[in-house]
Amino acid sequence: MSGTPNVWNGAGKRIYIQEVGPRDGLQMEKVFVPTAQKIAMVDALSAAGMAKVEVTAFVSPTAIPALADAEQVLRGIARPAGTVMTCLVPNVKGAERAMGAGADELNLVMSVSETHNLANLRMTRAQSFKGLAEVIALVRGSPAVVNVSLSCCFGCPMEGDVPAEVVLDWAARFVDLGVNGITLCDTTGMAYPSQVATLTAAFRARWPDTEVTLHFHNTRGMGLANVLAAIDAGADRFDASLGGLGGCPYAPGATGNVCTEEVVHALELMGYATGVNQDLLLAAAGRLPALIGHDVPSQIVKAGRRLDLHPVPADFEATRSRALARA
Ligand code: COA
Ligand code: ZN
Repeated sequence: MSGTPNVWNGAGKRIYIQEVGPRDGLQMEKVFVPTAQKIAMVDALSAAGMAKVEVTAFVSPTAIPALADAEQVLRGIARPAGTVMTCLVPNVKGAERAMGAGADELNLVMSVSETHNLANLRMTRAQSFKGLAEVIALVRGSPAVVNVSLSCCFGCPMEGDVPAEVVLDWAARFVDLGVNGITLCDTTGMAYPSQVATLTAAFRARWPDTEVTLHFHNTRGMGLANVLAAIDAGADRFDASLGGLGGCPYAPGATGNVCTEEVVHALELMGYATGVNQDLLLAAAGRLPALIGHDVPSQIVKAGRRLDLHPVPADFEATRSRALARA
């Protein structure tokens, strides 16, 4: 190739892939996936080498009926040492349930958009923050750690743009309470690469020691481009969803997350180290349509990996002979 330095070469840099399909994916599905099959899905994902799996959500079963079996799922899964098991938690009641069932991490959620927070969580942002501060106090002294997922950091489907200062102000309030990590969520795929680079770099510069995760949805086809922009700006943790499932039922127009197997496939080709076994990951993705009763967005499930080659056409030898005879 050329002698120009290749800025896209991962050179073995570790990128942490955090699977959110069992939560962000299944919360949006109309069918109730049986508990045993949810457990099998999580087990397959941890066996494939995910750094973290968001196992379920301890939310109101009226708000999200698909995840009403949260305790049984968390109690039923294997707990391999390499995978952190996290769960979405919106309030104190959810935190008590998650800790009771043995979560490694509580992933607290609120939106930086007042409108989306009211639509999704039925609280103002101030009310959410007050409740989540109580949760953080409750978790302190337990073996569990806290991550905070901030929804709509790259725009709200009802309000429009949310200024970066507003996003960073909410992040600051949680960092000041000593949380382990913050996730900047692009809840409805409004993020674009230059915006992602600016916000990621600003976060990294201000809090170099706080884990930052980027959570993208591929609603407008910019998911993978946003992942690469975030890596260039210093991020190394990404949420992604098996098969590209996902979406918030309380955010108009929401569709699937960036697809885990697409992100892993692309990053591994570029020389990044994800620690994920692609054969096991693809086998798990291939089982999804039967589980949820419909096709999945994943391009890799449809097309296979780049070097999953196809047989030559049946008449290939005859074609070759004819071509050579003409020479
Ligand atoms: N787990 C289980 N039940 C819960 C709960 C939780 N974390 N939090 C509240 N509830 C129950 C209450 O006990 C109460 O039950 P009751 O009617 O039998 O007494 C009922 O839900 C209403 O409680 P309230 O505190 O008034 O909640 P709300 O109706 O205002 O809803 C939330 C607030 C946050 C609980 C609800 O909107 C929710 O769970 N949202 C999550 C949405 C989501 O997951 N979106 C996608 C991910 S971003
Ligand atoms: Zn999401």
